[in-house]
Amino acid sequence: KVIEGPTMTAATPDEVDCQQRQLVCIDDSGYIERVINESDDDFSAVKRDAEQNDRLLTLKSNEYLLPGFIDLHVHAPQWPNAGVALDRPLNEWLDTYTFPMEAKYKDVGFAKRVYDDLVGELLANGTTTVLYFGSVDNPANLELAKACVNHNQRGFIGKVAMDNPDQTPENYRDASAQSAVDDTERFIQQIDRLNQTSPIKQTAVITPRFVPSCTPESLKGLGELAKKYDLPVQSHCSESDWENGYALEHYHKRDAEVLDEYGLLTDKSVMAHGTLLTQADLDTFKARGVAVAHCPISNVYFGNAVLPVSKLLQQQVKIGLGTDISGGYSPSIYQNIRQAVMSSRMLNDGVNSELAPAQRGTNYPPISAKNGFYLATVGGAKSLHLKTGQIKARYLADLQVVKSPLKSFEDESLDQIFEKIMYHASKADVKQVFVQGRLAKTSNN
Ligand code: GUN
Ligand code: FE
Repeated sequence: KVIEGPTMTAATPDEVDCQQRQLVCIDDSGYIERVINESDDDFSAVKRDAEQNDRLLTLKSNEYLLPGFIDLHVHAPQWPNAGVALDRPLNEWLDTYTFPMEAKYKDVGFAKRVYDDLVGELLANGTTTVLYFGSVDNPANLELAKACVNHNQRGFIGKVAMDNPDQTPENYRDASAQSAVDDTERFIQQIDRLNQTSPIKQTAVITPRFVPSCTPESLKGLGELAKKYDLPVQSHCSESDWENGYALEHYHKRDAEVLDEYGLLTDKSVMAHGTLLTQADLDTFKARGVAVAHCPISNVYFGNAVLPVSKLLQQQVKIGLGTDISGGYSPSIYQNIRQAVMSSRMLNDGVNSELAPAQRGTNYPPISAKNGFYLATVGGAKSLHLKTGQIKARYLADLQVVKSPLKSFEDESLDQIFEKIMYHASKADVKQVFVQGRLAKTSNN
């Protein structure tokens, strides 16, 4: 397949490479083979050849080719709750709304209906790779993996481990630390079997929910599994005062230190939120190669602080974006890019003003829409060790075709059009989505 049209791809955290007309050539295994510029000698010959073989897709006017987004934090079973009870504190929201909803996935038919809808919705919003929390129950988690296969989405999927009887309801928890670990291992094997017939590979992820939900025994066993299978790990880390308070009270340590002690902070770990990480925690993340899933919408409700994104970028701590459905109400990474920019401005606002009182703002500079786009593409790809997120030779052909949602009334630079897309695009504007060169089944089509 060859796609002809204007392209936009992150070059650095601060720069987007926008080209008016390129040919993106995709090979049979779903990788970008070559990106050809209009000024290259063989542009016309390659185009003609693709056209004659019926392999050319030419974008319509006002359409742009962008890398697909990577969502580093989704709670799949919480999709029916998107937008519900966000005014409650985190622990109450979990106990009253979230755990009861997740318990419903003992019903595999319910899981199938929700997961088909969710995967189609995320793809419709331009998200091609997702790091998912499933629920405690493996039959439902397997349905999520099958939904990813059926829709052509790259899923990283975790069976949630939560065995602490003090912090989880009786009808929704692992029966013991041992069964939490055994069921996680069984899920790893189920994903292996599914992959034998799946063109787009799914990955099992070690998933202790967070320190309060787990016993020291399950954390230890899960750390050992992560090592045995060399698999990614996901959890919540330093999301809220309540979570940090729990770790301090029960372990006399910060939650990042607890996770580290059990071998759960590795260069394949993605920790959600991190709003309250200290400099010492960030040093540990940097040393271990741990990534932060920045969830800017969710953090407004539960984060108790604004994540200083520019500080993490400066210190080269890995970072990408997550929607955190349903702590965040929106399945759109576009919306999360906007919120990331807006929150960073509020964090910084007034800091250099002579009129500002002492506590107004912090010295971390605000981020731009370009920074946000980098997090959503390159940042996510690096966090998951994937060759994706850029329109570049030898990268996976994970792509979205986006129609610019606003009219142009005068000549505009591609940079200006890029910014307008970041600020205005919604799923109605995402016209086609490809994952590993395959057309994805979105809720738009
Ligand atoms: N901490 C533990 N579980 C959750 C969850 O489901 N959502 C959020 N935002 N934080 C959590
Ligand atoms: Fe979460």
